[in-house]
Amino acid sequence: MSLPPIVQPASPRGQDPLPQPGAEAQAYSRQLSEKILMAIDQAGGWIPFAAYMELALYAPGLGYYSGGARKFGGAGDFVTAPEMTPLFGRTLARTIAPILAASEPILTEAGAGTGKLAGDLLQALEAMGQLPARYNILELSAELAERQREHLQATVPHLMDRVHWLGALPDTLSGVVVGNEVLDAMPVELVRWQRHASQAVQRLGVSVESTDGGVRFVTTPAPTPASPALIERVRALADKYNWPDSYTTEIPEAGPAWITTLAQRLTQGALLLIDYGFPRHEFYHHDRTGGTLICHYRHRAHPDPYYWPGLQDITTHVDFTSIAEAGFHAGLEVTGYCTQAGWLMDAGLLDLLAAEQPADHTQADAAWVRTQHAVQTLLSPAEMGEFFKVILLTRGLPADLRIPGFLRSDRSHTL
Ligand SMILES: C[S@@+](CC[C@H](N)C(=O)[O-])C[C@H]1O[C@@H](n2cnc3c(N)ncnc32)[C@H](O)[C@@H]1O
Repeated sequence: MSLPPIVQPASPRGQDPLPQPGAEAQAYSRQLSEKILMAIDQAGGWIPFAAYMELALYAPGLGYYSGGARKFGGAGDFVTAPEMTPLFGRTLARTIAPILAASEPILTEAGAGTGKLAGDLLQALEAMGQLPARYNILELSAELAERQREHLQATVPHLMDRVHWLGALPDTLSGVVVGNEVLDAMPVELVRWQRHASQAVQRLGVSVESTDGGVRFVTTPAPTPASPALIERVRALADKYNWPDSYTTEIPEAGPAWITTLAQRLTQGALLLIDYGFPRHEFYHHDRTGGTLICHYRHRAHPDPYYWPGLQDITTHVDFTSIAEAGFHAGLEVTGYCTQAGWLMDAGLLDLLAAEQPADHTQADAAWVRTQHAVQTLLSPAEMGEFFKVILLTRGLPADLRIPGFLRSDRSHTL
């Protein structure tokens, strides 16, 4: 059976037009859209939003992260902290070093982007005399793994024998597992709350609607009732946070499930996750009526997840309470949770910045100005400082271990 053509609008729904992708990128996106359309057709006309997000980001060879789109930096769609300044990785090295020393000298990075953080961490740990015996990279994208290899070959060629790309999560983990902006890229369920409707909890997903010349993707409720477990979970959140009717939000499942798996495999050491998000009471605040789902295309943020599938990032904030709970239930201790600014200041970012200052103060130094600007962006409450959080989940570390970044933690957190 032949499927109808997918029509791609010039702009995300309800938004101003964005720069159009080139012909080759459009062809990739059309291929991915056909794959998604086929999945919808095979499922009887509807797939859960999490299945759409999984395909849009990770369909082999075509998804946003698994395909060849240039994602990071000025020419891409967004800039992450490690891309702004090496001081981010150097500060992170201060947090990681004592944990490696107290557990095993193995550092594992999930979703390593361009490899910038890996290079900065390895250089900083080497300078501290705390080089890990292994630096494992868990990467879902072959294209990014290649970029990481090239970057590390250029920056730390003498350390390449310590770097290993893992095809799958190892059965056991020890040392430190770190992930910057990884949880926000994991698929989520979308739900809508309608207190007075016959089905108060609607599981949302993706189907197609006709438009001029073909069809387009559209968000619609599931054709069958949500599972009792999902209904119970959403009803409890709606009651607790007093949601108004039509409240639409995300239920993260892949992220906490991933943490559970990592935690179960961690014999000794720590999981350290950095990302944008909130504790649950803020995530599900009754005023946040539209959820946190957001898309990034060429440094523009918009809410339409169906704009050029595979060419734009689709992301949500992280419910850090669900991450803490997943770790806790798998036997980890929630050793630290704070804002990115709090963590960076406690770990000594400003000392590292001061050491970068050029000796000649009268000389305008472009690199120094850029570094200062990057640090300001990382720390400012109006930018990344408060919006990003850091969580440290540990197993089997000495209770009195001093971990820069969390030195002022009292280990009793309200999440
Ligand atoms: C926004 S990017 C961040 C990249 C990088 N850490 C940085 O800060 O620049 C998200 C990354 O998470 C990766 N990712 C998502 N789920 C993952 C998983 N289960 N295991 C490993 N990486 C994952 C994606 O492939 C993508 O490379």
